[in-house]
Amino acid sequence: MVSAHADAAQVLVASNRGPVSYAVGEDGELTAKRGGGGLVSGLSAIGDEANALWVCSALGDGDREAVRRGVGEPGVRMLDIDAETHAAAYNGIANSVLWFVHHMLYQTPLEPEFGPEFREQWAAYERYNQAFARALAESAAPGAAVLVQDYHLTLVPGMLRELRDDLRIGHFSHTPWAPADYFRMLPDDVAEQILRGMLGADRLGFLTGRWADAFTDCCVRLVGGTTGTRVGVHGLGADADFLRERSRRDDVEERLATLREQIGPDRKVIVRVDRTELSKNIVRGLRAYELLLEERPEWRERVVHVAFAYPSRQDLAVYRDYTAEVSRVAERINERFGTAGWTPVVLHVKDDFARSLAAYRLADVALVNPIRDGMNLVAKEVPVVSDEGCALVLSREAGAYEELCEDAIGVNPYDTVGTARALHQALSLPSGERAERSKRLAAAATALPPARWFLDQLTALGEGRA
Ligand code: G6P
Repeated sequence: MVSAHADAAQVLVASNRGPVSYAVGEDGELTAKRGGGGLVSGLSAIGDEANALWVCSALGDGDREAVRRGVGEPGVRMLDIDAETHAAAYNGIANSVLWFVHHMLYQTPLEPEFGPEFREQWAAYERYNQAFARALAESAAPGAAVLVQDYHLTLVPGMLRELRDDLRIGHFSHTPWAPADYFRMLPDDVAEQILRGMLGADRLGFLTGRWADAFTDCCVRLVGGTTGTRVGVHGLGADADFLRERSRRDDVEERLATLREQIGPDRKVIVRVDRTELSKNIVRGLRAYELLLEERPEWRERVVHVAFAYPSRQDLAVYRDYTAEVSRVAERINERFGTAGWTPVVLHVKDDFARSLAAYRLADVALVNPIRDGMNLVAKEVPVVSDEGCALVLSREAGAYEELCEDAIGVNPYDTVGTARALHQALSLPSGERAERSKRLAAAATALPPARWFLDQLTALGEGRA
């Protein structure tokens, strides 16, 4: 048993990616930057909790340097796990295997072989999870609540339970959960270890009933059920106050002016903002736009697709290839249809939050067409921020679809012809109807702001334990 420090925290969060990352400048100075993704947005509410600690991983050279120099944010503990172990656990297992399983991304010739290399990476994943479990056990006050996040840390609840039986342990999945037949692609012992690791928690949270049911089904079929562990659903919504205030600041206004110039006057704007991520289905989204221009010549010169595809997981060759493919397809569309005064696709690949918000403000249509997505916050954010109200073309495979389906235009993400038709329908909506729908979308999208999501989980974890 590991005993708690005297100044130990009452609420702990554990995640691979933390709220800040560091970069070393040419002058040797460290600069901090806010982390991205739905997980970080949801968890920012922890900042309001006194005596809270966010345990996360040092992710790059800048982070490691910050740990070495003892630089950090209050309430954040970065673990400097050795680089090789981290790379094998994060790139090898979490992002190349578990992410692919839950998003059902494997397809010929990308089908996995779980051979000796996988086993070595799996051992690193175990060590990586063990390092988190130990750090949490050291830092938690007696009876503290620990909220473990996502597919990087599925073994932590069971490992932590072994070290500290007094803690209340929750785990939350920000991804979809794979159907049992697909999940069983993993080696039997690994699949079982993941489920049993998670079932070490008192309570497990998912973003939608669909993912929670898939998890429960996996447990019933592989380990005989979820005995002793409660399973709950917490949808994560957009933060209306933050978005409305942030999107009116000067840096956003500046980018708005630049974007307006790039788009040109009197044109409709279709916006997408994503990490360049295979599950986000950016290439098929561009294809659908190309089909729209092909089949509906009346839109040529009258619409611009503003597509922001920000770098993600560039250590993985399959992501680098995908990034190149996105640029190739955008260029092809511009070469094919562009004219002296009209660029059909305005593609930006450098991450810029202020510019994303500027694009949200200009959106007549938001295109969100993932193959599978735990929730998708962009679908929820654009209706809140858009100046004139926007139509939302939304994949029915995004978790957000369950909450937004009444006013979004649903699409099958593989069906590019159907998606092109949906874009046409969205662009053709009368402005009054579009504004009404957008208002209702924004209301549904902000019903569960991040702070509520976080506190609901904490409350639910506290309930039902003797
Ligand atoms: C998804 C995952 C998060 C992750 C984020 C960004 O939202 O659920 O756990 O942090 O993607 O991915 P990255 O690999 O850059 O952390």
